Amino acid sequence: MNEFKQKYGPWALITGASSGIGMEFARQIAEKGLNLVLVARREDRLKTLAEELRGKHSIDVKIIGADLSGDDFLPILKKATSNLEIGLLINNAGLTTTGTVIDNTLEDELNLLHVNCRAPLMLAHEFGKQMRDRKRGGMIFLGSLLSFASVPYWANYAASKSYDLMLAEGLAAEMKEHNVDVLALCPGFVRTEFAEFAKLNDLMAMNVQPVVSLALRKLGKSRAAIPGIMNKLNALSTRLQPRFLNSLIFGLVVRPTQKLNH
Ligand SMILES: NC(=O)c1ccc[n+]([C@@H]2O[C@H](COP(=O)([O-])OP(=O)(O)OC[C@H]3O[C@@H](n4cnc5c(N)ncnc54)[C@H](OP(=O)(O)O)[C@@H]3O)[C@@H](O)[C@H]2O)c1
Repeated sequence: MNEFKQKYGPWALITGASSGIGMEFARQIAEKGLNLVLVARREDRLKTLAEELRGKHSIDVKIIGADLSGDDFLPILKKATSNLEIGLLINNAGLTTTGTVIDNTLEDELNLLHVNCRAPLMLAHEFGKQMRDRKRGGMIFLGSLLSFASVPYWANYAASKSYDLMLAEGLAAEMKEHNVDVLALCPGFVRTEFAEFAKLNDLMAMNVQPVVSLALRKLGKSRAAIPGIMNKLNALSTRLQPRFLNSLIFGLVVRPTQKLNH
């Protein structure tokens, strides 16, 4: 059995596996021989992915159609995984709103908060306890380059990603004594449906493969990972510059994307 599977197997649970970064996590973790629980709302896509991965690797794949913004998703996931050892949790599902907060509906902004922050916390709380008891495991949270700055027109999204980064880093320290690794993955723009929706500049974007492989390499070695040299420099300058300047710069970058809500 390979080292990764020994530490983080036998099952990985991945939220937002129906597209983009989550789908790539499923592919790369399947290659490492872990069984998968794939979670998202679009079950048809999960089914197709599950068939592909079962065909390519000798693994089991379960799919769960669940809306992570709702109140009822945790009992559904607990029931479906009650006899499985989840050794790796990928808190990946996420979305953004764009435009000024007060012009968006409160419902949309709360929906974002529930999917990007509340659901990762609830899942880490549930599966983290099991990992602590087993004395091994890992969790990856999706932060962003925007975790490091306030961003007008994406204000709630950037705030939610700061939460994900801070929660992951705090948990990493708390879980160390239980042999559970926690990592915040903080990508810049990545070519996914998210980036298409947000009309992000494709030239600045990375492909999903190196973003995900960096996260899987860094788990257990760092508390945060930023893919790409330009993104690393960007994060460094964001930390050194005054916050108002970051806000101004990021606001100019994302301003053209406003009024594009799902
Ligand atoms: N792409 C980027 O440039 C970028 C950069 C930094 C960070 N990120 C982060 O990376 C993560 C993945 O994003 P992506 O780029 O791969 O976007 P994506 O292609 O749009 O995928 C988002 C995933 O989240 C799931 N999701 C959204 N709302 C959900 C809900 N209410 N319940 C359950 N699942 C839900 C979607 O599944 P269903 O629609 O099927 O439910 C989908 O699988 C997000 O947390 C995002 O913030 C992305």
